[in-house]
Amino acid sequence: MEMKSIRINEMGRHVGEEVLLKGWLNNSRAGGKVQFLMVRDGSGLCQAVMEKSEASAELFDEVKHLGQESSLWVAGVVREEPRSVGGYELAVSDVRIIHKTEDYPITPKPHGPDFLLKNRHLHLRSRKQWALARVRHSVIEAIRDFFNSNDFILIDTPIFAPAAGEGEQTLFNVDYFGEEVALAQTGQLYLEAAALSHGKVYCFGPTFRAEKSKTRRHLTEFWMVEPEIAYVDLNGLLEVAENFITHIIQHTLKRRRDELEILERDTADLEKIQLPFYRLSYSDAVDLLHSEKAQGFLQGQLEEKQGQLEQLQSSIEQWTQEQESAKKQWQKDKLTHQIAQGHEQVSELTEQIKNIPHHMELAKNFKWGKDLGGSDETIISNLHDRPVFVHRYPKEVKAFYMKPDEEDSRVVMNFDCLAPQGYGEIIGGSMREDSYEALLGRIRELGYEEADYQWYLDLRRYGSVPHGGFGLGVERTVAWLSGTRHIRETIAYPRMMGKIYP
Ligand code: 4AD
Ligand code: MG
Repeated sequence: MEMKSIRINEMGRHVGEEVLLKGWLNNSRAGGKVQFLMVRDGSGLCQAVMEKSEASAELFDEVKHLGQESSLWVAGVVREEPRSVGGYELAVSDVRIIHKTEDYPITPKPHGPDFLLKNRHLHLRSRKQWALARVRHSVIEAIRDFFNSNDFILIDTPIFAPAAGEGEQTLFNVDYFGEEVALAQTGQLYLEAAALSHGKVYCFGPTFRAEKSKTRRHLTEFWMVEPEIAYVDLNGLLEVAENFITHIIQHTLKRRRDELEILERDTADLEKIQLPFYRLSYSDAVDLLHSEKAQGFLQGQLEEKQGQLEQLQSSIEQWTQEQESAKKQWQKDKLTHQIAQGHEQVSELTEQIKNIPHHMELAKNFKWGKDLGGSDETIISNLHDRPVFVHRYPKEVKAFYMKPDEEDSRVVMNFDCLAPQGYGEIIGGSMREDSYEALLGRIRELGYEEADYQWYLDLRRYGSVPHGGFGLGVERTVAWLSGTRHIRETIAYPRMMGKIYP
């Protein structure tokens, strides 16, 4: 096969030419005289049309029996075909089989989430995982680009750390030559030191939290980017955060239209996001939770979901009848798939409907002083069409390093950024305590090991300045931008309680 080898996403530049695609068989459909091969090559998906008259009978037959995910080279002429995926197809002139696959475990039939997680090493090749990885890639590209082009210096902070950064309950302990240390929950403390050297810095890496809760928003290993700025105030931080998020949205929309379409993300919700984001104090957030508006919203959700459930159940009934009378095997298979997916959605909806009254109670009885829970964040974020900054939380529920508000010592100068549509917290940040005495007092009050924090206290001994920063979780951001409910889908190899393979 002597012709030029190209990637599927380059086909538009080679119409009328004979080219070579090197990829895998995604699936195929065969008739007597022609076969339709869906080939993927990493850059996209392409329909290759193989006419019996164009190949030897032997090859035609061999290709006909190729299993899903067999690897192959396909040669042929590129032609425009608006009805085909990507708008082009290949008129096959030759096929070379590289590796024959039999019984690939992930078939076009539906599989449960547990099965797919166990087979994530193979599931990575599926359309949705493929699209998600590419969205994630562009989110990370935008993150790096934003800080690099705004004069921030990258500092790599350590992963082995002797002390807690974000509360001691969620530490993973490691034996470090006989000494017990922990995996980093944040790079922030180290970053603060670097901010006093460069003024504006950021770190970006994996962080670890021994989260025992199995929620759709928590992983035990996740990627976080953290900027830290000297001589900033809380308003300044909020401005950096909203510009940063806007940049990520714009870049992802620009680079990943096709992938967002595969993921069925309604991009209008992202396109309409404008500056400035909403600002809401914690106390106002509590009032909002207590309000008629919140109860009304949940009541509305309840009715909407009940309606969806009824609709779905009658659809499933109809599909079941259609399936009985279907003549062709592919029609039966398609309906089997629909029915199974329908059942999955039914159990999800039933679960959600069951939880709503509980969430209504939680919101109604929310006590000032508590941290916002997942369902509270969901309510607040659903009541806003743009991201919301909730600021000035009670000191007791936040980390030791946060600086109290001079006007109200019960609260700290912090903020969480909640993504709209119920996606919840994607950023946590704050002004840092910059007074030596106050910080030492707080460390003592909480009973932390003073010796561990001596170097951190040095930052308040020598040239201390007002400073602050924030951390953005990559997986939660990707989940929001891609419209994915569970963040485990947004990282190739998710780590959660009870999940370490593959
Ligand atoms: O709010 P957090 O705990 O803030 C910090 O770690 C600060 N030291 C950041 C800073 O000020 N430099 O975490 C920040 C973000 C959250 O908003 C969330 O997006 C993500 O990290 N995050 C998690 N993502 C997935 N799984 C978990 N278990 C997460 N915990 C936090
Ligand atoms: Mg937080």
